[in-house]
Amino acid sequence: MSSIDLVDAAKTAHPVQLRNVVRQFGEQRVIDGLDLDIAPGEFVALLGASGSGKTTLLRSLAGLDSIDSGQLRVPKARAAVFQEPRLMPWKRAWKNVILGLRIPNARARAVQALTEVGLAHRLEAYPATLSGGEAQRVALARGLVREPKLLLLDEPFAALDALTRIRMHRLIIDLWRKHTPAVLLVTHDVDEAILLADRVIVLANGKIAEQLNIDLPRARDTGQEGFQEIRARLLSLLGVEAVEPTPQATSAASQSSNNSIRRFAHG
Ligand SMILES: Nc1ncnc2c1ncn2[C@@H]1O[C@H](COP(=O)(O)OP(=O)(O)OP(=O)(O)O)[C@@H](O)[C@H]1O
Ligand SMILES: [Mg+2]
Repeated sequence: MSSIDLVDAAKTAHPVQLRNVVRQFGEQRVIDGLDLDIAPGEFVALLGASGSGKTTLLRSLAGLDSIDSGQLRVPKARAAVFQEPRLMPWKRAWKNVILGLRIPNARARAVQALTEVGLAHRLEAYPATLSGGEAQRVALARGLVREPKLLLLDEPFAALDALTRIRMHRLIIDLWRKHTPAVLLVTHDVDEAILLADRVIVLANGKIAEQLNIDLPRARDTGQEGFQEIRARLLSLLGVEAVEPTPQATSAASQSSNNSIRRFAHG
């Protein structure tokens, strides 16, 4: 039996609560008895091999897909941002932000959200005229305007160049601090996970294979004490042997496409 329970996140200690969740496609059990709790305001990064079920899990949490059995409890107020911005090409940026929403002062709310992501000057732009980073910020504004208690991010920076990605990291952290949603970020980039998250979980065989609390003080950077130990541990869990972080090695292992940029500061 499956049950999907939408909760008022303000009234519960763990707005995200999964118990024995199963999702399968035909014979393939992609999610296989998964348990997961996410606390209010917690930033969790989700790692796992390609095909391990990360997007499947995120889609269930977003309400875009069902589960086959188990219990899944998520806040009613939730929003998802994917690798591609998924904007309606015939609608201007501000209209994309409020798409499907019936709220008072819709334009003002859209303007506020676009201002928060640094796009106050692109309100009237059509998606085709936006850069990849700008389009992704519109998608983020579309999430924010829903005032989510749970923000689901599925590799939202993967298609961006290294510098834009660093700016997006800072923006995400700023917005997370301001709005305090719980965040579940799917990423293939181990460094990104350690830089951003309170906790990193590794999905394998349909379950959480490992999780690590990241207690490193913020603002974080890849050179800070303790970072490389966590990185090596996560890489080994992912089946990648950790090596000294030469530019080539880091690039291959973590998809950090520009490793000359080592410092990361936010806050
Ligand atoms: N609608 C579907 N019908 C059939 N199989 C599916 C469907 N959605 C996902 N799958 C399968 O489930 C498995 C997990 O897919 P999923 O997209 O969740 O992986 P992922 O961890 O997000 O991978 P990636 O890192 O490559 O994005 C894959 O084998 C995929 O082919
Ligand atoms: Mg995926």
